[in-house]
Amino acid sequence: MGHFIEPDRALEGAEDLHEALGIPIRSGYRAIREAQRFHGQFRIFDRLIERLAVDDLVCEDQCSIDYYFDLVRSLRDLNGEYDRVIEVGTFMGGASVMLAGCSGSFDFDLDLVDISAEHLQFTHERIRRSFPEAAGRVRLFHGDLPAYVREVMLPRGSGRALVHHDGSHMFDQVVHDLTALSFVRDQLHSIIVQDTHLRGPHDRMIFVDMALAAVFGTGMTFAPIGKVYEAQDSRTSPDRFAGHYFRPGMPEGMVLSMAANAFQYPHPSAAFDKLFPRETAAA
Ligand SMILES: C[S@@+](CC[C@H](N)C(=O)[O-])C[C@H]1O[C@@H](n2cnc3c(N)ncnc32)[C@H](O)[C@@H]1O
Repeated sequence: MGHFIEPDRALEGAEDLHEALGIPIRSGYRAIREAQRFHGQFRIFDRLIERLAVDDLVCEDQCSIDYYFDLVRSLRDLNGEYDRVIEVGTFMGGASVMLAGCSGSFDFDLDLVDISAEHLQFTHERIRRSFPEAAGRVRLFHGDLPAYVREVMLPRGSGRALVHHDGSHMFDQVVHDLTALSFVRDQLHSIIVQDTHLRGPHDRMIFVDMALAAVFGTGMTFAPIGKVYEAQDSRTSPDRFAGHYFRPGMPEGMVLSMAANAFQYPHPSAAFDKLFPRETAAA
């Protein structure tokens, strides 16, 4: 199951937000520190970076600055064609804060979907501190994507939605999420998916790109976004922590337009309630 939650106003005065929410910081990577490379390419991104540069949050961004730049550029290029962005998987709001920061310029509402209430609360508070004018357009859905489809998209519709997916990276979970979206295909403008270049330990089955191909077919069409690593880059070798690595030559993310792709899974006769019975939906 899943449901909308309210922002926790008690966090507004918290100095150590991650400690207040019990979220451990691992790498502490802040993409914004590398944003200078993109300065001057387009004004809306420059303004986002100026606003973000003054935050003093201790947090961690999990995508490259190249990816965040391309994400905002994609929203600009598709401006006017969607009215809601649904982000699946926020962690500490690296992508969400970029999305929220340009929601006014591109006139869309933002629904954040995550199985962690703490991640949603951190993200909302990060947005509120950097872009208070955008916070009113942001809703927090605690649950997974099939639950969001069940509770929000199937009963009410959501206009034309652009989905940003950076939730679970496991093959079966990504197929699961995309399968749920197939039942609301008429509401989808496009799907942007992160970590399509990632591989990891055998027991985690990290195959985001393969999950896309499983659902949209091996002939799917997409625009690559974000970083592409060369074979000589050390990040293409398994790391010493868990064995994650990036596949050389593969893009960090993919933008799939629904006008150019068709769901080839599940079978057209499949029923949502049979595939996602209410009692087993994630909380
Ligand atoms: C890789 S992080 C997101 C990073 C973030 N987009 C950024 O820019 O830094 C993944 C997030 O997905 C959430 N998550 C994991 N599995 C999920 C699922 N099945 N449905 C929704 N969220 C999920 C985790 O709680 C976490 O917040």
